[in-house]
Amino acid sequence: MIKKIADNVWLIHGNQSMFMIEIYSNSILVLDNQRLVLFNCPELTDDVKQTVRSIESEYQVKMELIVVLGDWHHFHIPAWMEEFSTAHLKVCSQRNLLKQPSLEEKFKDRIEVIDYQNISVPALGDNFELVSFSGCIQPPWMLGGDENGAPRIELVALFKTAKILYITDHVFCPTEQSFSGGLMGKVPGLINCNKGGFRIGDSELAMKSAENILELDFDSIVFSHGPAEQCFLEKNDNSIPKDMLAAGYRTFFMKHAEESKL
Ligand SMILES: [Fe+2]
Repeated sequence: MIKKIADNVWLIHGNQSMFMIEIYSNSILVLDNQRLVLFNCPELTDDVKQTVRSIESEYQVKMELIVVLGDWHHFHIPAWMEEFSTAHLKVCSQRNLLKQPSLEEKFKDRIEVIDYQNISVPALGDNFELVSFSGCIQPPWMLGGDENGAPRIELVALFKTAKILYITDHVFCPTEQSFSGGLMGKVPGLINCNKGGFRIGDSELAMKSAENILELDFDSIVFSHGPAEQCFLEKNDNSIPKDMLAAGYRTFFMKHAEESKL
């Protein structure tokens, strides 16, 4: 399902199951300077494919850039690279490529790994900003196969023109009820930190990352995970997404560094 959420911005809502639990993978597609930019890759269903192709033809543009912001969001990248041969891929981590070996085998010339410690993606242009969420480590080896203490890598994207922030994995969107089959420690109605997926390795760095994100100029947030109706959090009289994000951060990512100073 694709829904236009702002001028030149579409939300792609894709279903995806993992370990028998249905999760939702929401991506955003942005028309900027006469090219299409996709952030993260949802499942490429026929419906999604046709809609993206129709956007290309309506605006006389091509899919030029696919930016993958989360190191666990690799499942559907090969399908998009196969389908959209004009697209160049920027991934936040070598992990994305390790988990999908066909990418380097087939599309080596169109792939680049972003240095999350020194972010520079000139191809994105001036209307976007990427910020690293650092300071956390991967879940135990049993879950993701990562070395003990390996950094968990995520970039957060701001589309400045529409003041939309796009978040992949480190926090979950507020919902009326859990969206993944059990509360899993999440509090309905609040932005919850992904405590299991992002274990704090360097509390000062995690707090600094949260502060850096809160300094960005955004009004609304799109969350990669969450039901279609709830993953786009807009500012209104009752809620200010930035304040909600700050409140979420204070329960975990900003809390540990503060506590260690006491
Ligand atoms: Fe995810």
